[in-house]
Amino acid sequence: MSKYTIAWMPGDGVGNDVMRATRIVLDKLGLDAEYVHADIGWEFWIKEGNPLPERTIEILKKTDCALFGAITSKPREEAAEELDPALRDKGLTYFSPIVRLRQLFNLHTNLRPCEAFKGNPLNRLGDDIDLVVFRENTEGMYGGIEWFPLPEKIATAMADPEVGLPDRMQRWFDKGLENVALSTRVVSRQGCESICRQSFEYAKKFGRKSVTLVEKPNVLRETGGLMTRVFREVAKDYPGVEAWEANIDAICMWMLKNPQDYDVLVAENMFGDIVSDLCAGLVGGLGFAPAANIGDEYAVFEPTHGSAPKYDGKDVVNPIAMLLTAKMMLDWLGEADMADRLHSAISAVIEAGEVRTYDMAQVRAGSAGAASTTEMAKAVAARL
Ligand code: IPM
Ligand code: MG
Repeated sequence: MSKYTIAWMPGDGVGNDVMRATRIVLDKLGLDAEYVHADIGWEFWIKEGNPLPERTIEILKKTDCALFGAITSKPREEAAEELDPALRDKGLTYFSPIVRLRQLFNLHTNLRPCEAFKGNPLNRLGDDIDLVVFRENTEGMYGGIEWFPLPEKIATAMADPEVGLPDRMQRWFDKGLENVALSTRVVSRQGCESICRQSFEYAKKFGRKSVTLVEKPNVLRETGGLMTRVFREVAKDYPGVEAWEANIDAICMWMLKNPQDYDVLVAENMFGDIVSDLCAGLVGGLGFAPAANIGDEYAVFEPTHGSAPKYDGKDVVNPIAMLLTAKMMLDWLGEADMADRLHSAISAVIEAGEVRTYDMAQVRAGSAGAASTTEMAKAVAARL
């Protein structure tokens, strides 16, 4: 029997290309694992009306963790149009399988390191950027508590003088509730505390200088306020780590100007989503941005990038984000030595600059001047 059982979920689009590439590297490392393929993504929405089939959830329950390529996610109307005609009018609605997985398996922490590798020609802001985002992964605006149109019962409860805001609600009644949509941002003290504590623990463990909270408490007074208070309380337990606070809008500007000032960042779900793409942009783009969705017992490793449908199956995209994601999986499994070797091999290939995918070579995808996804993976494997 293998030491590990890993759910293997290429998902959509280029997820397949980068996962194939990753397998080359994991095999070269000699990871003692059995990989169990699991269906997920757009194809299963279209064919079965469910992008996350029950059989996949069962596979996940029996594995140690999952490696996930990429997902195509579309708004409700577009999704409905692509559904198999035989399945229409069955009341099926599309949902994002990755968001659902985070909820189902309580993968409360999204860890997103963004490191500028030496020699990466896409490092326009310097080689010395090394950021780690801790994104709360199950609460906030991703909680799925939303309505359109706004039900009368909800609106009336919100306008009830005993619990609600009659003055502020009046203008929505005036517009007609059938014209009003509501998405909520719900956070808990526990959720805030967990993500803040993990970010400080990480900073302490790896000798990081600061943790910056990314919020907007001047406007989101209750949710942002709770997160900020909890952040300050937690910070007291880590006197060796500086605790900074920034508003989401301001930090988007400051990070572009002075990315070197920042170190560990912590944020609620939506702001973490936004700021992690920004961080990826500072270190060469989504081709260099790995991610891990981590819970107490299970984890799903998926790079930050999407499925890039136009490059699907063309073997052109940069697999480095996916390889770095596999590195995070190795760390989580306790295979620190393999993780380090993989990280060194990736760094060495980037620094040597002989093998570059189209984004790094800054040429058109598929043109002769660029290495393929597979070639990049082989170059990394050769350095191991
Ligand atoms: C991410 C993605 C997802 C998210 C989408 C695909 C639902 O942008 O992992 O950052 O918003 O969390
Ligand atoms: Mg995102």
